Amino acid sequence: MRLLALEYGADLVYTEEIIDWKLLRAERHTNEVLGTVDYIDKTDGTVVFRTCPAERGKVILQIGTASVDRAVAVGRMMQNDVAAIDVNMGCPKDFSIKGGMGVALLYDRPRAKAILEGLVGSVSIPVTCKIRVMPDPEETVQLAKDLQSTGISAIGVHGRTKIERPRDPVNEDAIARVATALHIPVIANGGSQSITRRHDILKFAQRCSTTSVMVARAAEWNCSVFRADGPLPLDDVIRRYLELSVRYDNSPSNTKYCVQMMLRSLQESPVGRRLLDSQTMQQICDIWELGDYCRETQLRYHFAGIKGRRACRPRTHSENGDKGTDETVPATSKKQCLDETHLTDPEPLIEENVCFIRSNFIDDNTLPKSKLYLHAIRNGLAQAQYKVEQKDKLFRAIVRFDGQRYTSSFWEKNKRYAEQAATLVCLLKRGVESRDELIRNGAMLPSKNATNGPDTVEHAEEQKGSCDMNGDRQIVSDAIATAGSC
Ligand SMILES: Cc1cc2nc3c(=O)[nH]c(=O)nc-3n(C[C@H](O)[C@H](O)[C@H](O)COP(=O)(O)O)c2cc1C
Repeated sequence: MRLLALEYGADLVYTEEIIDWKLLRAERHTNEVLGTVDYIDKTDGTVVFRTCPAERGKVILQIGTASVDRAVAVGRMMQNDVAAIDVNMGCPKDFSIKGGMGVALLYDRPRAKAILEGLVGSVSIPVTCKIRVMPDPEETVQLAKDLQSTGISAIGVHGRTKIERPRDPVNEDAIARVATALHIPVIANGGSQSITRRHDILKFAQRCSTTSVMVARAAEWNCSVFRADGPLPLDDVIRRYLELSVRYDNSPSNTKYCVQMMLRSLQESPVGRRLLDSQTMQQICDIWELGDYCRETQLRYHFAGIKGRRACRPRTHSENGDKGTDETVPATSKKQCLDETHLTDPEPLIEENVCFIRSNFIDDNTLPKSKLYLHAIRNGLAQAQYKVEQKDKLFRAIVRFDGQRYTSSFWEKNKRYAEQAATLVCLLKRGVESRDELIRNGAMLPSKNATNGPDTVEHAEEQKGSCDMNGDRQIVSDAIATAGSC
C-alpha cells in the first residue's frame, strides 16, 4: 500500500504503528530474492517490517512506545533503513493507553518530551510525532509548542480529541491554530471524509493553514486519490495493489484486509463474497484475473529459495544481525524439531512439510481428523492419539496411529491447525490423501530436487492449465503464499 501511494503521487509514506519491543525482537535480514530488507520476528518468523529501494528516503517508521530506552534502541537499529521516525501520540486504543503509549503520552508530557529528546539526540534522521487535538484549542497549541522544543522536525496533528471517533467532524480550526503558532511543518490529518481527489487534499491543507496533509482512510478506500490527473477506477487500483502485493510477498491476510477496505459497500457483491471466502494470495488474485501472474511469481520465488513461514522453526534464528536470507534451519535437519521425549520414543517419527489450509475443506466432515476417524473405524484400528508441543508462539502436533507417529515440519500458529496438519501427513503416508492433491491445493510445496513425478516444476506448470476445483483454480503456489504469509 505504501508503494502504491508513492506511485500515485504521495511524497512520503508512514508504516503502521509498530510497537518498540516487537521491533527489538526482530532481526534484520537482506532478502536477496525479493530485493528487500526484512525485519523478522525471532520467535515466529513473521515479517515485522519490510522495505525496498522504491521507498528509500520516503518511508517513515511510526513506533508505539512509552520508553526512552526502547525508542532510542529502535531508532539506532533502524535509522539506515528509514527516512524518519515518528512517535505515535495519537492512538486512543485501550492497549496503547494501558501501556502508556499513544494518546497517553499527551497526558504525560515529561515522558513524551524525554522520548522525543532521546531520539533526536541519538539518531541522524528526522524525528517527528503525531498528536490529537486537546479539548481546549489553546492547550493544543501549548502542547505542540512544548513538543516542538524537543528538536523534532515536524508534527502531525489529527483534528479530533482522544474521545472523538472517525465519524465526528474534524476540527480544522484547531489544526490551523497549531500551524500558525509553530515554526516547524505541521501535517494536517483527519480530513478523509471530505477527500476523494488530490484537489480536496490541497483544499484541506488550505483550510488548516498547513503545507502538508496526512491522508489515511481516503487512501485506504482509493489509493489513487493522490493522482494529479484524478483518481482511477477501483478495479485498476486493486489490480495494481495485488501486483505489488505479490511482487513483495505481502501476507494474504493483510492483502485481503486492504482489498476489503477498498471494496467497502461492495463487500456484499459476488466479487466481495468471493474475496470473503478467499484465504490465499492465489485465490485473491484469481478474482482479478491475476492468477497466472501470482502463480508464476510465487513459483519463481520458491525456486529462487525464498524463505517464509513454511521454513520457520522455533528458536532457530541467528543470534545477531544480518545473516542473509538464511534465517531458518534447512528442512532436512529434523533432529532440531524433536524434543527429548520424541528422541526416546520407540516409534519412528514420520515427517513431511504439510500445512493446513482451512478453506480447502468444504465442511467439518471432510477435515483431515474426521477422515482419519472414519479410516480407523473402516479398518478396525484404534483411534488416533494427539500430542501438541508449543515453542515460542508456534505449535506442532504428533499423531500416533497404528503403531506409527506422524508430524508436519510446518509449525502452525494454533493447536487445532497443528493437529490437522499432522493428520494430513498421516493420511498422506497411508495413501488416503494423494501427494498430487496436497500440492494442488497448496498444502505442500513441489520438491526442488525431484526430477520426475508430481513434485516437479513441470508438473506444477501442467497443473496450472488443467486444475479447476470448485470453480476456483488452485495450484501449488497457493502454498507458497501461505508459507510466505508469516
Ligand atoms: C484501519 C486504521 C488503522 C490506523 N492505524 C494507525 C496507526 O497505526 N498509526 C496512526 O498514527 N494512526 C492510525 N490510524 C489513524 C489514521 O492515521 C488517522 O489519524 C485517522 O484515520 C484520521 O485521518 P483520515 O481522516 O485521513 O482517515 C488508523 C486508522 C485506521 C482507519
